[in-house]
Amino acid sequence: LKNKIDLKLKENSYRIYIQNGLLANAGNVLKLISASKKILVLSVPFVFKHHGHLFCSNLRKSGAKVYPMLIPDGEIWKNEVTLFSILKKMSNLGFQRDCCLVSLGGGVVGDIGGLAASIYMRGINFIQCPTTLLAQVDASVGGKTAIDFNGIKNLIGTFYQPKTVLIDPLVLKTMDERKIRTGLAEIIKYGIIYDKKLFESIEKNIDLILSMKIDFLLRLIKRSCEIKAEIVSGDEKEKGKRAWLNYGHTLGHALESYYGYDLLTHGEAIAYGMVYAALLSVRLKLCGKSVAQRQIELLKRCGLLRKLPKFDSGAIYRKMLLDKKAKSGKIQFVLTRKIGLVTIRKNVPPSIIFSVLTQFQAEIRKLT
Ligand SMILES: NC(=O)c1ccc[n+]([C@@H]2O[C@H](COP(=O)([O-])OP(=O)(O)OC[C@H]3O[C@@H](n4cnc5c(N)ncnc54)[C@H](O)[C@@H]3O)[C@@H](O)[C@H]2O)c1
Ligand SMILES: [Zn+2]
Repeated sequence: LKNKIDLKLKENSYRIYIQNGLLANAGNVLKLISASKKILVLSVPFVFKHHGHLFCSNLRKSGAKVYPMLIPDGEIWKNEVTLFSILKKMSNLGFQRDCCLVSLGGGVVGDIGGLAASIYMRGINFIQCPTTLLAQVDASVGGKTAIDFNGIKNLIGTFYQPKTVLIDPLVLKTMDERKIRTGLAEIIKYGIIYDKKLFESIEKNIDLILSMKIDFLLRLIKRSCEIKAEIVSGDEKEKGKRAWLNYGHTLGHALESYYGYDLLTHGEAIAYGMVYAALLSVRLKLCGKSVAQRQIELLKRCGLLRKLPKFDSGAIYRKMLLDKKAKSGKIQFVLTRKIGLVTIRKNVPPSIIFSVLTQFQAEIRKLT
């Protein structure tokens, strides 16, 4: 396997493998990594129907007993009821410490599976097989696990690294365009925070992406995982530069919560968030207008800035204050210096935050 990335951590370093057709050969790879005799394959019906059967029969060839478990699809099921149903299932199957949980699905399956694996018997083997573009470039890498609780997203969770991540870009063929775009927003984010060349290669090749040229997608996935791995390995528990990954997410999360999770996909929400961060950066003289314009232009060309109904700035501001990253009444913003370089600001005056929110709404109205 030639496309692999090592995520180096103080403890529990692991390898991410990226290859077309990887899931159909997973048995061989897993044999190398874990000697688990029992494997729970956690998935959702749609993904399992298209990608699960071949995967499981291949895993069985490695000699392990494989138990599929399907949970209902959707963010609303990333909750304590589903979590406990997974723990119960493993208990009923007599799972021991040497057993393994594999998450085969999008970020929801990855997050809840990781949490279950991290607390069952204080931690069993865990493997990520992400099947959405968003999960392949973001959610499966870095070891954050979570469920939503009491109406608050990702309120309960752990840091728990998988033994490995297996990424098969071929599974993306069953994804619709809107879901692909949402993953693309995170890839653009990596370009802005860390890698000008990546940003430029998206600018030049949008057609290849939206027409699903798998080999090009594979390169983007690989570069994204490398960037996330580099950032996370320097800062596993988010004390410093891991916060860069939050570019566009301060306003993005507030918009998701304000409009509910149906109107905007996560990628669309953070695309707007990146527009806001870019405008705020210009206002604070951290970068020139053209740096913001270039970001807006690319996000628009990727179809990520479609329609945003008018919002109430006060309500959005209060939601930003509730963000997990905000501390003692100060909102933390990740802001652009230039394409490929960001910086963090915690002391932006509320008057500027509000005035750029107004400017942002006017700008978005012009675009859509
Ligand atoms: N842990 C982290 O670091 C991290 C980072 C980013 C996001 N997340 C979490 O990830 C979740 C969002 O991830 P997501 O967008 O993958 O959501 P998701 O898991 O809900 O998947 C979205 C939809 O895509 C479908 N799907 C999955 N694979 C498919 C395929 N190959 N073909 C067709 N359809 C497919 C699913 O059935 C689902 O309906 C959120 O809960 C978010 O909090 C976690
Ligand atoms: Zn995100």
